[in-house]
Amino acid sequence: MTGRLKPLVAGNWKMNGLRSSLEEIRAIAAFAGAGLPPLADIVICPPATLLTAAAEICKGSLLHLGGQDCRAEISGAHTGDISAEMLADAGASYVILGHSERRAGHGESNAAVQAKSQAAFRAGLIPIICVGETQAERDAGLALEVVGGQLSGSIASSAEGRIPVVAYEPIWAIGTGVIPTQKDIVEMHAFIRRELGINLASQGDAVEILYGGSVKPHNAGELARLENVNGVLVGGASLKSADFIQIVKAFA
Ligand code: PGA
Repeated sequence: MTGRLKPLVAGNWKMNGLRSSLEEIRAIAAFAGAGLPPLADIVICPPATLLTAAAEICKGSLLHLGGQDCRAEISGAHTGDISAEMLADAGASYVILGHSERRAGHGESNAAVQAKSQAAFRAGLIPIICVGETQAERDAGLALEVVGGQLSGSIASSAEGRIPVVAYEPIWAIGTGVIPTQKDIVEMHAFIRRELGINLASQGDAVEILYGGSVKPHNAGELARLENVNGVLVGGASLKSADFIQIVKAFA
């Protein structure tokens, strides 16, 4: 972990969660209760259908909420889409953008992710921009090149100097229970830090770089000790408050 940056632990619920799941958010919000010194920023990104109810629960707590995607436009004839302004209005302060499931499943290009990032800043949200290589790309020795291209193509900073969060999520580690070696994570995060310096100049040092992909309570401690790992983006293990809280504790 880079000492100067406050860790960020974010949960991505993906397409999971009904109103009955709000109990998990209630438990995390209670853990992140007001009055405790905030040692880490904690974010849950539930499906958009739960944001408003979750925001009610989070009132007075230090648990932040995020969306899982947004459209770049403010409003208009875009059936089924959600704007960054709508997410902010529903109580979000973050938004995950360019997740590999969106890049692959919805054909999102780097340029589309960058436009969404600018929309997030416009709406006052902090974008969490995801990058990561496939197994084939890693096997071919292309991991750094692929991630470098995604970064320079997708990231944006705001005119007022606000900066994104970046999440490195190797696609082969998502939902598989397999994570890269510590050496590979440290190498990639150091590379991302250098690239951020090129893309965002001095602001690059202030960007939190999260690791994501099969983060669980049992491996969070070792991840938290790695250089330039400023937090984690957690999928499956964020659905159960007890597991997620254990992961937060490893970073707090
Ligand atoms: P996982 O998902 O923790 O279930 O591997 C991570 C993600 O896709 O953000």
